[in-house]
Amino acid sequence: MENSKGQWSSNFGFLMAAIGSAVGLGNIWGFPYKMGANGGGAFLLIYVILVVFVGFAVMLGELAIGRRTGKGAVGAYRALSRKLTWVGYMGVGSAFLILGFYSVLGGMVMRYMLGFLVNLFGGDGFGAEGFFGSWIANMPGMVGFYALFMLLNITIVMGGISGGIEKFSRIAMPALAVMLVTVIVYVACQPGAMEGYKFMFVPDFSVFDSLKSFFSVLKAAAGQMFFSLSLGMGAMITYGSYLSKSEDLNRNAIIIPVADTIVAIMAGMAVMPACSAFGMDYGQGPGLLFNTLQTVFMDGMGGFIGNLMGFLFYTLVFIAAITSSISLLEVNTAYIIDRKLEKGKKANRRSITAIMGAVIFIVGLPTALDGLGTNVAGGALINNPAITFGLPSVGATADWLDFYDMIAEGILMPLGSLAMSIIIGWVFGSRMIKEEATCSGHVYKGEKFYNICFRYIVPVIMVIVLYAQIQTFFG
Ligand code: TRP
Repeated sequence: MENSKGQWSSNFGFLMAAIGSAVGLGNIWGFPYKMGANGGGAFLLIYVILVVFVGFAVMLGELAIGRRTGKGAVGAYRALSRKLTWVGYMGVGSAFLILGFYSVLGGMVMRYMLGFLVNLFGGDGFGAEGFFGSWIANMPGMVGFYALFMLLNITIVMGGISGGIEKFSRIAMPALAVMLVTVIVYVACQPGAMEGYKFMFVPDFSVFDSLKSFFSVLKAAAGQMFFSLSLGMGAMITYGSYLSKSEDLNRNAIIIPVADTIVAIMAGMAVMPACSAFGMDYGQGPGLLFNTLQTVFMDGMGGFIGNLMGFLFYTLVFIAAITSSISLLEVNTAYIIDRKLEKGKKANRRSITAIMGAVIFIVGLPTALDGLGTNVAGGALINNPAITFGLPSVGATADWLDFYDMIAEGILMPLGSLAMSIIIGWVFGSRMIKEEATCSGHVYKGEKFYNICFRYIVPVIMVIVLYAQIQTFFG
């Protein structure tokens, strides 16, 4: 048992884990404000079209590659062809880099959760006003919660596929749904909530007026979709590799993106009206989750109910974050396990997971130490990459988090995904996908549709994503 690769114990358990991977900070934090900033309902329309024409196909492709080869990202591409191993490395590399800063953010979420819990019991969970600003300069605090979040990741992943990841997800994901609905309903009852819905949903079709603005919305939506669906980093390949041959791949590849999109919209329906009801600015980017919303719950709603809603909200964000980060850790763990097994050695999941987690923790440490770019001047321990290396100051060098994100999401992820779509659409043909989709008597619905997606639509969108990412980080 120690070294074995494991399998999901049920399709429901797999779905909870995979939806758990997809539903993360990207949904609750990124989606609402990107939607608001990019034409509201118009963004949503483009997003949904992209999910249908790109998300479904790439999801199916990743799950199929994983299940067919029974391996994590690197092993899976190597099994397809030795010449393709590098595509797998790109995925594992980006998961490696992202897990570090994702866990720094996860640690912060835990701190907020704890703060509201302390408030609930009549304590002072946040201290003076402007908690956010002082917290990011609190180095022992930032590193401590980062370490705690990473330790939780390691503990869950050590438990294996069905005994760790699945067991946790099948309890945590339904709990997340209940908490999210509770917050949405409470927020809906606040006067002034309507403004928030309008900000989100009223389509600003003027974004279709010029090619330039259409393109910029398309870019934002496409990047968001890939990240939100956990695509392009080998996560779904890895999760697919633990799925029994008897499950319906075709159907799963639709359920996951649909659920992810629904949760993203629901998150927006919690966050945006909460801001509008209490007169807060929602177009704040990173500040939205850690600054604006804390003020909304603690001072806007206030009192017992405000602290309760705050606690529920940050707890659900915590669940969203950790069910995503364990998939990133599993990508790395699976890579090492595969390698050991291929060499005919024993693979001990527990020690591999612990070592991988520790190495990622160390590499990710700078993202917890530069005060998210406020630098030594702002009370942090180290400076951002621009100052440290004397580089020009652009988005990607403004803080370590964006620096790592630029390498991962800006370069490795879109290049890897572009390669994947070409491999499936043009090299291996769709035969492999078909064999996987139909392997235990299931019907492969939409085969023609998927073939067109893989051949033409996905590669074109990937080129756009790549271009857009480079522009965002270096522009
Ligand atoms: N999908 C997650 C989110 O929305 C992030 C994430 C987890 C991810 N695992 C991934 C993104 C793998 C890309 C690939 O926050």
